[in-house]
Amino acid sequence: MKKTALVTGASRGIGAAIALKLAAEGWNLILTARNAGKLSDVKTACEKFGIMAYSICADITNEVSVQELFSTAGVVDLLVNNAGIGIFGKLDEMTLEDWQEIQRVNVEGSFLCLREAMKGMKQRGGGRIINISSVVGVKGYPNQGAYSASKHALLGMTKTAIEEGRSSNIRVHAICPGGVATEMVKKSRPDLTDFSAMIQPEDVAEAVAYLCRLPENITVDVIHLRRSASDQTW
Ligand SMILES: NC(=O)c1ccc[n+]([C@@H]2O[C@H](COP(=O)([O-])OP(=O)(O)OC[C@H]3O[C@@H](n4cnc5c(N)ncnc54)[C@H](OP(=O)(O)O)[C@@H]3O)[C@@H](O)[C@H]2O)c1
Repeated sequence: MKKTALVTGASRGIGAAIALKLAAEGWNLILTARNAGKLSDVKTACEKFGIMAYSICADITNEVSVQELFSTAGVVDLLVNNAGIGIFGKLDEMTLEDWQEIQRVNVEGSFLCLREAMKGMKQRGGGRIINISSVVGVKGYPNQGAYSASKHALLGMTKTAIEEGRSSNIRVHAICPGGVATEMVKKSRPDLTDFSAMIQPEDVAEAVAYLCRLPENITVDVIHLRRSASDQTW
């Protein structure tokens, strides 16, 4: 029987690439984000692989919306906790509102999705959760203080979820990519003009598929995805 994956932030970028890869690997999909039009385009592209795909609009910062999302979704065998935002700027120039907004989406939103997924997986005796953190979840970069704090938090949550999920057969992982050629990185690095040598969204999707193929008795806690040709993470 086909298994079901719920992918957050599936309307574009890395989330859309993950959705397409999982569809190609035969997963049924629940796709979520706020932009209904873009979500519907990704859903249509995924359905070409002959799987069942549903799109449900939700803002992951809204607790009730996230609870409704998971109750509508039903059985979720895999959560890809991918939705996230970047707001960039120096710490001494950052407003409290921007700081809070980024933590609300990247930390609280990811927590709400992880919590709802874990509840269901515990009841059903297992599942898998993949959190998309970042290289800035382990390193610091100028102008990325608030974003970096949020991605460190996501990694901390992952490490705890690995321990808490083990006895319920819930495997939890994080992927920490360097710069990926999406709208987000184009915003954060206006100095860059050529994105062709950068990690592509499909490379992150490949890492997700790899984690899903791991044998039952083996796990990988964190994948650090970077360009092999450079010691720079970008
Ligand atoms: N690009 C990079 O260099 C890079 C590197 C490492 C890690 N990451 C991480 O990878 C993930 C995806 O990034 P990306 O580069 O693909 O970014 P992106 O192109 O900006 O896509 C972000 C996705 O998150 C969704 N989203 C944002 N806020 C949301 C909210 N409040 N509720 C629900 N969905 C929301 C967006 O959908 P809607 O706008 O339709 O809601 C969109 O689908 C993020 O967690 C990011 O931090 C990115």
